This record gives sequence, structure tokens and C-alpha cells, in this order.
Amino acid sequence: MKAIVCKEFSTVDDLSWEEVPDPVAGENEVVIDIKAAGLNYPDNLIVQGLYQFKPDLPFSPGHEGAGIISSVGKNVSSFSVGDRVSFFKGFGAFAEKIVVPEALAFPLPKNLPLDVAGGMFMVYSTSLLALKQRAKIKEGDEVLVLGAAGGVGLAAVDLAKAYGARVVAAVSTEEKAALCREYGADDVVVYGTKRLDKDEQISFGKELKSKSRRGGYSVIYDPVGDCYAVPALRAIGWKGTYLVVGFAAGEIPVFPANLMLLKGCQVSGVFIGRFQAEEPKVNAENLIEIGQLLAAGKIKPFISKAVPMEDAVSSIKAIAERKVLGKVVFVNG
Ligand SMILES: NC(=O)c1ccc[n+]([C@@H]2O[C@H](COP(=O)([O-])OP(=O)(O)OC[C@H]3O[C@@H](n4cnc5c(N)ncnc54)[C@H](OP(=O)(O)O)[C@@H]3O)[C@@H](O)[C@H]2O)c1
Repeated sequence: MKAIVCKEFSTVDDLSWEEVPDPVAGENEVVIDIKAAGLNYPDNLIVQGLYQFKPDLPFSPGHEGAGIISSVGKNVSSFSVGDRVSFFKGFGAFAEKIVVPEALAFPLPKNLPLDVAGGMFMVYSTSLLALKQRAKIKEGDEVLVLGAAGGVGLAAVDLAKAYGARVVAAVSTEEKAALCREYGADDVVVYGTKRLDKDEQISFGKELKSKSRRGGYSVIYDPVGDCYAVPALRAIGWKGTYLVVGFAAGEIPVFPANLMLLKGCQVSGVFIGRFQAEEPKVNAENLIEIGQLLAAGKIKPFISKAVPMEDAVSSIKAIAERKVLGKVVFVNG
């Protein structure tokens, strides 16, 4: 089979599309012929050795995908050859085939296209974990989403609207703001593409707060961090929940503890990989809920581009350059 291969931790340009051995299913594993794999921001970090863990070299990046099972190990009981599944694994999805433990494959509804399935579950399961388990979202909440036109951000907008929240979307450009409005955002803040200096951070915080109808948000969803995070925390409401999802803008922010005291708020961490490992049952329930919301037409994953797998490198670069809207998927065949 062919795969995108990372031979050393280096720039995205050093990735190659080349022949590698076909994977073989162990006793509790399945081999999946990948039809589509979703691009996520961590794929750009993992090949540079900048992610939470470093796979043994050589490896293929790619956290998630969807396809058809082509072989099963002798102890596998829940799947057969020919089943349509999505899968999660920290790496290995940017390839023609992947081997995963049975527990990391999930059956797909017949009417869900594989290119949509391959690119939606990482972002929707991260955002559902954040909003439902961490923030206990409910109808009528006011939710601020930063980086709201990106993968996890747009999924958070979509899910928060499905839960009946009022959503304010914060993004860098008018084009991204228009996409968020299409996804139901009730209001938007455009913060530009330049890093905010101290004075701009103060104005940004005030602008965020002015868009809340209650003088502060009940939930803030933050996948960007850096200079945007502390101003956003200043816009949180009494007993609100600030969700730390990622640091796409670069720096890991440091929060002044007095803000938490004054707002009676909590800052809650979200890490989908650890959640899947620690709480597989709740994760499986979340995946079922995502399927149900999709079937009911309450959420609509946005796949902005389907790119041939062999051309993945330029899109992995584009996500690092802030150029991706919603999700990009890489497709085989
Ligand atoms: N905690 C978890 O379990 C989990 C799961 C998945 C992803 N993540 C993290 O969440 C973050 C977003 O992931 P994603 O896959 O949604 O990525 P994405 O599609 O690229 O979205 C990230 C957004 O961040 C904003 N951004 C601000 N400054 C940026 C910069 N300097 N470079 C790139 N983007 C910048 C961009 O929106 P604007 O241009 O509008 O600012 C962009 O749309 C990443 O840090 C990722 O590692 C965490």
C-alpha cells in the first residue's frame, strides 16, 4: 500500500507519499481500507515532534478516518469484512490502509458518506466532550467560541446551537465570520490576523463582553490560546466554564487566579485522546449522540475540501497557515 510517511521529526515539506508494507490484523485488531481521512491541527504538530506524544519513526500522520474493513483478527467479535466504520488512532490515517484495535473502530450508519464520516468525528467528539461533559451545556446558555471557523471551533458552534444556546463566534476574518453566521452564530467578533498587543487585548476583551446579553458568557470554548485567552476569560460570566481545548495561535496562556476568584468560574481542560482511553463507554455514547444529531438534521459537518491522499502535504501546510475552513479530508481511490 501507499502512505504519507514521516521519516524524521521535521517540517511538513519532508513528508513523502511512498510504498510501505501492508498492515496485518493482530488477534483483536481489524484492517481498514481507508476511503477518507480527516485533517486535524495536531497532524501538523506530530510530524514536527511538537505534539503530546511522539510515535516511533517512521510513521504516517492522521488521527481519524473512515473506510471498509478488509480483514479481522481471530478474536474480533463485533465486525466482519465489508463493514463500514470510522476509526480513531493517534497516527496512521494518511495511508491506504490502517490496522486498529477493534475498540477504536465504530460502525457507521448506511446513509453517512465515508468522506463526511472520515472528517467529522474527531472535531465533533472533542467539542461534545467539552460542551456536554465539561461545561454541562443547557438550553439558553450563552457560548463564546474562539477560532470558530476552524475544525473544532465550527463543530462547537454547530453543537452549541443544536443544544439551544446563544452563540457568539470570534474569528480572524470576515470570510470566516460569514461561515459562522451560516452555521447559526447569533453574533460575531472579528479579531484580525495580527497578534494583539496589550491595548488591543483590552479592547478585544471589552468587545467580546459587549456581545454578551448578560454581561458575561456561561461557556467559553478556546482552541486558540495565546493573546486571545486572557481577554476572553475576562468576558466570562458568574460561575461560567472556560474550556481549554488547544493553542493553535502558539503560546500556552497563563491565567491570573484572581479572575477565577472574582468570576466564581472554572477553567476546564479538554483532551479527547485521554478521554477515549479513560472513559470509552461515555465516548461511545457521545459518538452515538453525534450520529443521532446528524440523522435528525441538527448538525451539519462542513467538509470544505476533499483532496487526493497523495496530495496531503500542501493541505497540512495550509492548516498551519490558518487557511483551512471547517474540515479538509484526504481521499483514496
Ligand atoms: N483538546 C483536544 O482534545 C483537541 C482535539 C482536537 C484539536 N485540538 C486542538 O485544537 C486546536 C484547533 O484544532 P483544529 O483541528 O480545529 O484546527 P483548525 O481547523 O486549524 O482551527 C484552528 C483555528 O485557530 C485559529 N488560529 C489562531 N491563530 C492561529 C495560528 N497562528 N495558526 C493557526 N490557526 C490559528 C484559526 O482561526 P482564526 O484564523 O479565525 O483565528 C483556526 O481556524 C489545535 O490547537 C488542536 O491541537 C485539541
